[in-house]
Amino acid sequence: MVTQKIVATPPKTSIFLTLTIRPGAESAVLALLPGISGRTRSVGFRHPDLDLLNVVGIGSDAWDRLFPHAPKPKNLHPFQELHGQPHRAPSTPGDLLFHIRGRTPDMCFELARLLMVDFGPHVDVEDEVHAFKYFDERDLLGFVDGTENPEDQDAYDAVLVDDDPRFAAGSYVHVQKYTHDMSAWESISVEEQERVIGRTKSDDVEFSDDAKPSNSHLALNDVSDEDGNDLDILRYNMAFGDFSSGDMGTYFIGYAKDPGVTEQMLENMFLGDPPGNYDRILDFSTAQTGALFFVPSIDLLDEIDALAEDSPEPADEPEPSAPLATDTEPGDNPHVGFTVGPLRD
Ligand code: HEM
Repeated sequence: MVTQKIVATPPKTSIFLTLTIRPGAESAVLALLPGISGRTRSVGFRHPDLDLLNVVGIGSDAWDRLFPHAPKPKNLHPFQELHGQPHRAPSTPGDLLFHIRGRTPDMCFELARLLMVDFGPHVDVEDEVHAFKYFDERDLLGFVDGTENPEDQDAYDAVLVDDDPRFAAGSYVHVQKYTHDMSAWESISVEEQERVIGRTKSDDVEFSDDAKPSNSHLALNDVSDEDGNDLDILRYNMAFGDFSSGDMGTYFIGYAKDPGVTEQMLENMFLGDPPGNYDRILDFSTAQTGALFFVPSIDLLDEIDALAEDSPEPADEPEPSAPLATDTEPGDNPHVGFTVGPLRD
């Protein structure tokens, strides 16, 4: 099984397209999904040095509509809205996500354009964000964003499903569009901004645990399992802005093998840890959208129309005798039981 290209060097520019499938357009969309990899290759191959990538996600309601009789990824569900005091994380519609990234906006735009020629008649665009990295890997708050992302094998271990063999090499992805109150943010000192995040602004150095306020973004996003092992997600946040509406902010996107990890972080941020000790970043950032998607492996995506032909199953358990498809000898990847390479988009 081969993963979609989730793990990659940070892009310079992205387009995030969240779509809903029109009633009755399920079979048209099903027929188009297997062709997405080819579209990405058509555009990307013209400039291989520009690292054009596209990751496709499918939302929970869409899965039920497209594949009513097929098994469902076990952790795919609608985004869980959070009502903290005083901040709220809304759940907004999303059947398909296209996470398009690269080094230049023309490549991203061309791929989005071709995809919308195909999908446009069958979907509504719920959210569209053309985003960029602000100077040296910064978000619009001016902080370097992404430093503590897991790397190499740790990144694959963090994002690829390893406990649901039918969906091996898949992943889950949460997205949220945040708008920033830039005047409020700029009205506080750099030292105070650093206490909000938990790192220094200019040179991106993490505060020591003693110096990190308990309501800082870093303190609340440091989550671990019951044995004390760190639980990671992989983020590709980007800045966006629009002068006519005045909306500007950070598009959060986080991949995880278990969406429960990201949800734990969101609970810490919005409800607080302990309850009421919410993330101070939210005093300057408002979540406008929220959605969860499953990211199938590239092998599954390329033949996903076949899944719709599945007949009802008596149980959702995997066949014990069905071996995992691997490209390499067993044991090459002791953590996940299948190989992740070679990567294709
Ligand atoms: C307004 C939106 C957000 C902004 C501007 C933002 C910005 C940042 C910045 C500047 C850092 C420090 C550098 C780094 O390691 O990347 C960071 C770290 C982090 N953020 Fe966010 N973030 C946002 C939303 C979120 C959300 C919604 C989550 C999770 C649900 C999240 C999870 C994390 C994690 C896990 C880290 C690394 C913590 C560590 O291990 O040090 N962030 N973020």
